[in-house]
Amino acid sequence: RLKSGFELLDQELAHRLLPPRARNANKYTCGTALIIGGSKGMSGALQMCVKACLYSGCGLTTYAAPACIMNALTSSLPQAMSIAVSDKQGHFDNEFCDELFKAAQNVDVIAFGCGAGRSEDVERILERLLLIDKPLIIDADGLWALSRRLPLLKKRRSATILTPHMGEMQRLCAVDKNALQSDVLRYAFDFVNEYPVTLVLKGMRTLILEKGRLRINTTGNEGLAKGGSGDVLCGMITALMAQQKQAFDAASLGVYLHGLAADLQSQHTAFYAMTANELIQGISDAFLAAM
Ligand code: APR
Ligand code: MG
Repeated sequence: RLKSGFELLDQELAHRLLPPRARNANKYTCGTALIIGGSKGMSGALQMCVKACLYSGCGLTTYAAPACIMNALTSSLPQAMSIAVSDKQGHFDNEFCDELFKAAQNVDVIAFGCGAGRSEDVERILERLLLIDKPLIIDADGLWALSRRLPLLKKRRSATILTPHMGEMQRLCAVDKNALQSDVLRYAFDFVNEYPVTLVLKGMRTLILEKGRLRINTTGNEGLAKGGSGDVLCGMITALMAQQKQAFDAASLGVYLHGLAADLQSQHTAFYAMTANELIQGISDAFLAAM
């Protein structure tokens, strides 16, 4: 199935994948991103994702969230721009998403799903985002919506990055846990052979796949086993995609730096005490170590 086995995602490869940052860079050359997510009770997931994007080099970051959680977000995300969408019972209301979709037309990269919750409107928004000819990163509840709309992936003309953990992968493949775990690589390769996506299959050793290509990550630790770690990864990949526009490399570098941030942070933070905040604080050290 693979032409030449796999690539180990190590320091040397990560170094080569770092997006160049020109001395005369400006916020537009560094890329613009729109991050869509959040719902009542899950503003933190979106906040972590946006923060990680801001800390990973994206030139201009905008987020869109249901209006009811905006107060919880704006004061902690002063470096990002925001779009409040009228909400329906704490979730996005698809009827009031005009400003969101207008913004989506004007950015380099779109990310969808962190903390978005599960509703018909979330499914409708995903459907509309899939029709936009822009790179799209789908995570968390966005993957839940996607699992009900999988055929739409075949019409994508721009890059699509999916970042499922094993449970989300189960839903995407419509298989049970045991079947998936006993044959992870086969399911993962079948998926990227059928759909034109970059697949980031998260776990202790995260795999990055595209048709005929596989990278295996070497960084990360058990301090990452906390809610919010995945949202940070989504934000990092979004920022890297905004800067280098090559999905397989942006996803790979994001996974590597995310794990490295946790590894460096664990030198002075116990695994027990590690949260998404400490992880985000480690992002800068991870970039420095990879440079
Ligand atoms: N070793 C290495 N890496 C790990 C380990 C470990 N023991 N445990 C977790 N990780 C990494 C994974 O590789 C992944 O990058 O941490 C991240 C966890 O991501 P998620 O499983 O998506 O977890 P989480 O942040 O809780 O997701 C938030 O999204 O998946 C939904 O429903 C979920 O509400 C939750 C939300
Ligand atoms: Mg997650």
